[in-house]
Order: sequence, then C-alpha cells, then structure tokens
Amino acid sequence: MDTYQDPLAAAVPIRGYLDAKEVLNDASRFSQASKRESAEFVGGTVLTLEGDEHFERRRLLSRLMRRRALVYFDEQIIAPTVRVVLDEELAISDRVDLVRFGRRVFLQLAASMIGLKLPLERTDRVLEQNLFPLIEAVTVEWSRSSRGEIRAKGRAAMQSYVTELVQPSIEERRRVVASGGRAEELPTDLLSLMVLDGLPDPVIHREAVLFLVASTLNNAATLTHAIDETDRWLRTGPKGIATSGDEVITRIVHETLRYCVVTPAVFRECRERTTLSSGTELRAGDMVAVMLPEANQDEAVWGPDAETFDPLRSLPIGEKPYGLAFGAGVHACLGRPLVLGSYSEELTAGMLSRILHQILLRGAVVDHGADSELAASDQRRFERFPIRFERPSFLASRLGIS
Ligand code: HEM
Repeated sequence: MDTYQDPLAAAVPIRGYLDAKEVLNDASRFSQASKRESAEFVGGTVLTLEGDEHFERRRLLSRLMRRRALVYFDEQIIAPTVRVVLDEELAISDRVDLVRFGRRVFLQLAASMIGLKLPLERTDRVLEQNLFPLIEAVTVEWSRSSRGEIRAKGRAAMQSYVTELVQPSIEERRRVVASGGRAEELPTDLLSLMVLDGLPDPVIHREAVLFLVASTLNNAATLTHAIDETDRWLRTGPKGIATSGDEVITRIVHETLRYCVVTPAVFRECRERTTLSSGTELRAGDMVAVMLPEANQDEAVWGPDAETFDPLRSLPIGEKPYGLAFGAGVHACLGRPLVLGSYSEELTAGMLSRILHQILLRGAVVDHGADSELAASDQRRFERFPIRFERPSFLASRLGIS
C-alpha cells in the first residue's frame, strides 16, 4: 500500500473530551487498536499487548519510572546532556535547529533508559541512520510520503539498530546472568529487565524500538511547540505576568501538552455493541478514533477560550492541566513521570521543564529570520524549528527567568 490512506476514514471519530475519557478508561468494552500499521516494528510491545500480558509487561517496565531511576535520568543524563549538546551547537553557530537539538538530547535519554552504549560522538550517526527512519516507520499511518519507502527505510534502520546497538547489550547482560551474576549487578534499564524476565530476543528488539521512538518524538515536538506558542502568546497576549520562573515554566509545559497534541488520534476497537454516555452508538467491531487534539480543546470542558494557548488559564476542577495528552486508562503513557516529574515527596523537575528552563536561561528565542518547516505528516510536529540565542533575551525577561 503506497498511496495515501487516511487512517481516520474508516473509524468513528470521538471528539468530545468526556467520550474520549470514557473510551480510553474502559478496556472491557474497547481493545487497543493503535499501531496496527507498524506491527513489524512495535507489535507485541507494552503499547499493543492486551489483558494479562499487558499487565505483566507494564508492571515489569514500570520499574524504569521508580523515583531513584527518575532522579538518575534527570540529574545524570538530561541536565549534563543539555549543557554539552548546547555548548557544542553554540560553538558552531548561535543559530540552532531546536528539533535536532531536542532529538540529540532525548536520544541520550533513550539510550540510557534502554541500556545502549551510545557515546555522544556517535549521536549524529544514530540520529540519521536509525532514529529518523524509525520515527517515520512507527508513525507511518500519519505520513504523507510514500509508505512503501518509509517501511523499507524503517526495516534497514531497525536491522542496524538491533545489530549494532541492541543485541550487543543484550549479550552483555546474558553473560552476566550466565556467569551466576546477581540481578543487582545489572543496571536498571529496559534490556536488563527484559533479559532477567527471560523474554525472547525479537520481543526485546521491538520494545527497544518503541522506547527509542516514544522517548524522543513527542518530547522533541513538545519542546518546539512550547517555544513557538510561548513566543506568540507573549507577543500578542498579556502585558504583565503574575507568575514567573519555575511556576510559569510548568504551566507552559502543561498548556503546550494540552493545546498542541502531536498525534491526531489513538485507536480502539469496540468489543461489543454499546452506547457512550453522550448517546453515541457503537457496534461490535467498530474502529474508534479518539481524537486527542479535539478532546483537549473541547469547549464544554476547557471553556470558550479552549482554542487559545493560555498557560495562565483557570483549569476545570478534577482534570489534569494537560488533559488527555498522555492518553488515559491501562495504556496511558508510561513515560509521563519522566516527562513531567514525579509526584512523590521530593519532586523531580520533569525533563521538559528542566530543558525549557535551561535553554531559556541561555537566551533562546525564536529565530524569526529563518523558516521553520512542518513534517510531511498529519502529526503536529516540526521538521525544523530555528532558534537563536540573545542576551538579554525577550522570552527569559518576559517570563522572569534568571
Ligand atoms: C511529551 C511526551 C509524551 C507524550 C505526549 C506521550 C503520549 C503518549 C500517549 C498519548 C500514549 C497512549 C497511546 C494509546 O493509548 O494508544 C502513550 C503511551 C506510551 N508512552 Fe508516551 N508520551 C510521551 C513521552 C513518553 C516517554 C518519554 C516515554 C518513555 C518511557 C513514553 C513511553 C510510552 C509507552 C511505553 C507507552 C505505552 C504504554 C502502554 O500501552 O501501557 N512516552 N504516550
């Protein structure tokens, strides 16, 4: 299949926020149907499994989100990587592509979480050879380019990713286990957890693809939207902002996630004939498209200004400030604590806030003199988003960041 096919054409659209929540939260009436087009890359992963198998895999992988791991990722990986990558980029030019910068940083995070050896100097090669084609292959349903070509490039990227990065790390962990090593001798990463659990190689390979793409794509896209929307908001919106510093950054991250959902929809299949609380009738076998961007801008929940970006908005009682950006129910995003910070007593900042803070502090502003470019996809993401650095910077001074 090479011609463009709209994945929404054969599905019943669910646009209302409450309907969307109802569908996502009810695994007994709705089964997972996302990512069927990219099964060769991410089939049989936590994202696509169902029932007990899903429960067990999710329980296993949730260990990556324990507080100690989050603090490690936050302090030992993200913070120094942002510094080093930014220094490297700025040594070449004060104009930086924020998409590429974000993907370089998040690739290091992904490598650490998965358990891959990836020295910083190899980052660019892995970006080109593996990450970019795999992002396109795993999100092929939304692509406007040739799908046959995307899949072929994805296959080649997966093969070299597995051979050069994933399999050597699996073997290393198996050697430790075979020589009577204890589980504690292995680092807490995806490959260690799956090897210790006795899962077969092809299953581990696809989970390593899912985590590679999941931890880079949405994060890098959200980072660019945060800068883009905040710039527009400050130029056209409030004269003065009562909140500042960390508080306003957290609000910007939440509002960006609510307002700029990257993926047009997640899919579920209706198991039985049913009627949603709003009255929408569904038949057994119906494919349902839960339209996250529309749900997150539903005026009935978010008010008459739902379609505007306003980090200082009053929030509906009982709802998360980012709405359904991370999905909901059994398949809700596993990486959310990493993205937003942990909610335990001692909070970790959350990597999006941390990165946004670091780049704003260095003087990042939108480079209005250069063109940004959207990806050839129905996903809402940039392919290129130029920023530059200035002191004092328009964004940092308006937001009270010092
Ligand atoms: C801004 C960042 C992110 C956004 C907006 C986001 C969004 C989402 C959404 C909407 C889903 C639900 C898909 C569905 O219901 O079909 C999901 C699932 C998932 N996400 Fe994220 N994600 C983000 C970052 C991450 C990160 C950093 C990781 C890395 C650990 C991650 C790992 C996953 C996994 C493993 C699942 C599948 C969970 C399951 O099915 O049990 N995500 N994400």
